Amino acid sequence: MRIVIANDHGAVELKHRLLAWLQAQGHEVVNLGVDTEVRVDYPDQAVLAVQEFRKGGYDFGIVCCGTGIGISIAANKHSGIRCALIHDSYTARMAKEHNNANFVAFGGRVTYHEPVEQILATFMAAEFEGGRHAQRVAKLDALC
Ligand code: RB5
Repeated sequence: MRIVIANDHGAVELKHRLLAWLQAQGHEVVNLGVDTEVRVDYPDQAVLAVQEFRKGGYDFGIVCCGTGIGISIAANKHSGIRCALIHDSYTARMAKEHNNANFVAFGGRVTYHEPVEQILATFMAAEFEGGRHAQRVAKLDALC
């Protein structure tokens, strides 16, 4: 898969952990965001990921901040972006099956009860169910 990832200073370690895992799996990842803990603003990092994603050719994007909350809100302000703040394999799977999420968000300061790699792998393996969910996703996309 081809994936774009971006982060703020609250998720440098997490971003590198996900990046290393994805690359080890053979995925192509464009690494944006920051690589030091110098403070930046998460809305700006979300914009970087969205702009790159919109160039086309990406399967999905990943955004990370301290909680995942701010950067997911920021990503969702952009039309056509459906960013899911996933926190376990269940929400990861549903984000794809029901919401057809094209971005996922994680928090670098969050304690997950499953390895983040497993959560991400579940999202990547899931498929959008379409059907009744397609009309709901179309309504989401019509919102902005
Ligand atoms: C930065 O301190 C922090 O607010 C940010 O990473 C994120 O958690 C916001 O939602």
